[in-house]
Amino acid sequence: MTSPAHPGDIHLASSDEEILACFPVMRQLRPHLVESQFLTRVRRQMAAGYRIAWLEAGGRVVAVAGYRFKETLFLGRFMYVDDLVTDAEQRSRGHGQRLFAWLVDLARREDCSHLELDSGMQREDAHRFYLRHGMRVRSHHFSLPLQ
Ligand SMILES: CC(C)(COP(=O)(O)OP(=O)(O)OC[C@H]1O[C@@H](n2cnc3c(N)ncnc32)[C@H](O)[C@@H]1OP(=O)(O)O)[C@@H](O)C(=O)NCCC(=O)NCCS
Repeated sequence: MTSPAHPGDIHLASSDEEILACFPVMRQLRPHLVESQFLTRVRRQMAAGYRIAWLEAGGRVVAVAGYRFKETLFLGRFMYVDDLVTDAEQRSRGHGQRLFAWLVDLARREDCSHLELDSGMQREDAHRFYLRHGMRVRSHHFSLPLQ
Protein backbone atom coordinates (compact mmCIF):
# COMPACT_ATOMS: atom_id res chain seq x y z
CA MET A 1 0.00 0.00 0.00
CA THR A 2 1.35 3.46 -0.89
CA SER A 3 1.26 6.36 1.58
CA PRO A 4 -2.15 7.86 2.24
CA ALA A 5 -2.85 11.40 1.03
CA HIS A 6 -1.43 14.03 3.35
CA PRO A 7 -3.68 16.03 5.71
CA GLY A 8 -5.39 19.09 4.27
CA ASP A 9 -6.51 17.40 1.09
CA ILE A 10 -10.04 16.74 2.32
CA HIS A 11 -12.53 19.42 1.32
CA LEU A 12 -16.25 20.04 1.61
CA ALA A 13 -18.01 20.39 -1.73
CA SER A 14 -19.72 23.76 -1.70
CA SER A 15 -19.63 25.30 -5.19
CA ASP A 16 -21.54 23.79 -8.11
CA GLU A 17 -18.20 22.99 -9.75
CA GLU A 18 -16.98 21.06 -6.71
CA ILE A 19 -20.22 19.08 -6.45
CA LEU A 20 -20.10 18.20 -10.14
CA ALA A 21 -16.42 17.21 -9.85
CA CYS A 22 -17.49 14.52 -7.35
CA PHE A 23 -19.93 12.96 -9.81
CA PRO A 24 -17.57 10.57 -11.66
CA VAL A 25 -16.49 8.94 -8.38
CA MET A 26 -19.95 9.02 -6.77
CA ARG A 27 -21.43 7.35 -9.84
CA GLN A 28 -19.17 4.34 -9.25
CA LEU A 29 -21.12 3.66 -6.06
CA ARG A 30 -24.50 4.92 -7.36
CA PRO A 31 -24.55 3.89 -11.05
CA HIS A 32 -28.22 4.84 -11.42
CA LEU A 33 -27.37 8.53 -10.98
CA VAL A 34 -27.86 10.79 -14.00
CA GLU A 35 -25.26 13.55 -14.34
CA SER A 36 -27.76 16.19 -15.49
CA GLN A 37 -29.78 15.68 -12.27
CA PHE A 38 -26.89 15.30 -9.86
CA LEU A 39 -26.46 18.94 -8.86
CA THR A 40 -30.19 19.49 -8.27
CA ARG A 41 -30.46 16.33 -6.19
CA VAL A 42 -27.38 17.11 -4.12
CA ARG A 43 -28.51 20.71 -3.54
CA ARG A 44 -31.93 19.45 -2.38
CA GLN A 45 -30.30 16.99 0.02
CA MET A 46 -27.91 19.69 1.22
CA ALA A 47 -30.88 21.85 2.16
CA ALA A 48 -31.80 18.97 4.51
CA GLY A 49 -28.29 18.70 5.98
CA TYR A 50 -26.43 16.46 3.54
CA ARG A 51 -22.74 17.22 2.92
CA ILE A 52 -20.12 15.82 0.54
CA ALA A 53 -16.47 15.61 1.59
CA TRP A 54 -13.95 14.83 -1.11
CA LEU A 55 -10.35 13.78 -1.02
CA GLU A 56 -7.98 15.21 -3.57
CA ALA A 57 -4.83 13.50 -4.83
CA GLY A 58 -2.82 14.41 -7.89
CA GLY A 59 -5.13 17.37 -8.53
CA ARG A 60 -8.34 15.38 -8.80
CA VAL A 61 -11.15 13.88 -6.76
CA VAL A 62 -10.17 10.33 -5.75
CA ALA A 63 -12.68 9.55 -2.96
CA VAL A 64 -15.95 11.03 -1.78
CA ALA A 65 -18.15 10.69 1.30
CA GLY A 66 -21.74 11.88 1.66
CA TYR A 67 -22.92 12.29 5.23
CA ARG A 68 -25.33 14.09 7.52
CA PHE A 69 -26.00 14.53 11.20
CA LYS A 70 -29.15 12.97 12.62
CA GLU A 71 -30.82 12.65 15.98
CA THR A 72 -33.07 9.85 17.19
CA LEU A 73 -34.46 8.73 20.52
CA PHE A 74 -32.44 5.54 20.06
CA LEU A 75 -28.99 7.07 19.53
CA GLY A 76 -29.26 10.74 20.31
CA ARG A 77 -27.06 12.75 17.92
CA PHE A 78 -25.10 10.68 15.41
CA MET A 79 -23.43 10.87 12.01
CA TYR A 80 -25.02 8.92 9.18
CA VAL A 81 -22.76 8.17 6.21
CA ASP A 82 -24.87 7.92 3.06
CA ASP A 83 -22.03 7.27 0.62
CA LEU A 84 -18.35 6.36 0.76
CA VAL A 85 -16.43 5.46 -2.38
CA THR A 86 -12.92 5.61 -3.77
CA ASP A 87 -12.24 5.80 -7.50
CA ALA A 88 -11.83 2.18 -8.67
CA GLU A 89 -8.36 2.91 -10.01
CA GLN A 90 -7.25 4.46 -6.72
CA ARG A 91 -8.32 1.80 -4.21
CA SER A 92 -6.09 0.17 -1.61
CA ARG A 93 -3.92 3.30 -1.34
CA GLY A 94 -5.34 4.47 1.98
CA HIS A 95 -7.75 7.07 0.58
CA GLY A 96 -10.80 5.34 2.06
CA GLN A 97 -9.09 5.04 5.42
CA ARG A 98 -8.19 8.76 5.36
CA LEU A 99 -11.71 9.83 4.56
CA PHE A 100 -13.20 7.45 7.13
CA ALA A 101 -10.85 8.73 9.84
CA TRP A 102 -11.80 12.31 8.91
CA LEU A 103 -15.50 11.42 9.25
CA VAL A 104 -14.92 9.80 12.66
CA ASP A 105 -12.98 12.82 13.86
CA LEU A 106 -15.69 15.21 12.67
CA ALA A 107 -18.42 13.10 14.29
CA ARG A 108 -16.54 13.15 17.60
CA ARG A 109 -16.06 16.92 17.44
CA GLU A 110 -19.76 17.31 16.63
CA ASP A 111 -20.64 15.42 19.80
CA CYS A 112 -22.07 12.39 18.04
CA SER A 113 -22.64 9.17 19.97
CA HIS A 114 -22.09 6.95 16.89
CA LEU A 115 -21.17 6.84 13.23
CA GLU A 116 -23.75 4.75 11.36
CA LEU A 117 -24.17 3.51 7.81
CA ASP A 118 -25.98 0.94 5.72
CA SER A 119 -24.05 -1.22 3.30
CA GLY A 120 -25.58 -3.57 0.75
CA MET A 121 -25.40 -7.28 1.65
CA GLN A 122 -23.36 -7.92 -1.51
CA ARG A 123 -20.58 -5.44 -0.63
CA GLU A 124 -18.43 -7.94 1.23
CA ASP A 125 -15.18 -6.08 0.44
CA ALA A 126 -16.57 -2.89 1.92
CA HIS A 127 -17.73 -4.86 4.98
CA ARG A 128 -14.17 -6.02 5.56
CA PHE A 129 -13.09 -2.37 5.40
CA TYR A 130 -15.73 -1.31 7.95
CA LEU A 131 -15.07 -4.19 10.34
CA ARG A 132 -11.36 -3.45 10.19
CA HIS A 133 -12.13 0.12 11.22
CA GLY A 134 -13.97 -0.91 14.35
CA MET A 135 -17.55 -0.95 13.10
CA ARG A 136 -19.87 -3.72 14.17
CA VAL A 137 -23.03 -5.13 12.59
CA ARG A 138 -25.79 -4.62 15.08
CA SER A 139 -29.11 -4.55 13.25
CA HIS A 140 -30.98 -5.78 10.20
CA HIS A 141 -32.17 -3.11 7.83
CA PHE A 142 -35.69 -3.78 6.44
CA SER A 143 -36.89 -2.18 3.22
CA LEU A 144 -40.35 -2.22 1.59
CA PRO A 145 -40.37 -1.22 -2.10
CA LEU A 146 -43.27 1.19 -2.79
CA GLN A 147 -42.87 1.86 -6.52
C1 LIG B 1 -14.65 0.55 0.60
C2 LIG B 1 -13.78 1.62 -0.05
C3 LIG B 1 -14.45 2.99 0.12
C4 LIG B 1 -12.39 1.62 0.58
O1 LIG B 1 -11.63 2.62 -0.06
P1 LIG B 1 -10.04 2.44 -0.32
O2 LIG B 1 -9.55 3.77 -0.74
O3 LIG B 1 -9.76 1.27 -1.17
O4 LIG B 1 -9.62 2.13 1.18
P2 LIG B 1 -8.19 1.83 1.79
O5 LIG B 1 -7.13 1.87 0.76
O6 LIG B 1 -8.06 2.70 2.98
O7 LIG B 1 -8.41 0.36 2.32
C5 LIG B 1 -8.43 -0.70 1.38
C6 LIG B 1 -9.21 -1.83 1.97
O8 LIG B 1 -10.60 -1.68 1.70
C7 LIG B 1 -11.16 -2.94 1.37
N1 LIG B 1 -11.77 -2.89 0.04
C8 LIG B 1 -13.08 -2.91 -0.11
N2 LIG B 1 -13.43 -2.92 -1.41
C9 LIG B 1 -12.29 -2.86 -2.12
C10 LIG B 1 -12.00 -2.83 -3.50
N3 LIG B 1 -12.99 -2.90 -4.44
N4 LIG B 1 -10.71 -2.75 -3.90
C11 LIG B 1 -9.74 -2.72 -2.98
N5 LIG B 1 -9.96 -2.76 -1.64
C12 LIG B 1 -11.23 -2.82 -1.20
C13 LIG B 1 -10.08 -3.96 1.48
O9 LIG B 1 -10.18 -4.55 2.76
C14 LIG B 1 -8.83 -3.15 1.33
O10 LIG B 1 -7.77 -3.69 2.07
P3 LIG B 1 -6.50 -4.25 1.26
O11 LIG B 1 -5.99 -3.11 0.42
O12 LIG B 1 -5.56 -4.66 2.34
O13 LIG B 1 -7.03 -5.38 0.43
C15 LIG B 1 -13.56 1.33 -1.56
O14 LIG B 1 -13.04 0.05 -1.71
C16 LIG B 1 -14.77 1.46 -2.43
O15 LIG B 1 -15.06 2.55 -2.93
N6 LIG B 1 -15.50 0.35 -2.65
C17 LIG B 1 -16.63 0.35 -3.59
C18 LIG B 1 -17.77 1.17 -3.07
C19 LIG B 1 -18.33 0.65 -1.78
O16 LIG B 1 -18.66 -0.53 -1.65
N7 LIG B 1 -18.47 1.56 -0.82
C20 LIG B 1 -19.09 1.28 0.42
C21 LIG B 1 -20.55 1.54 0.29
S1 LIG B 1 -21.39 1.21 1.78
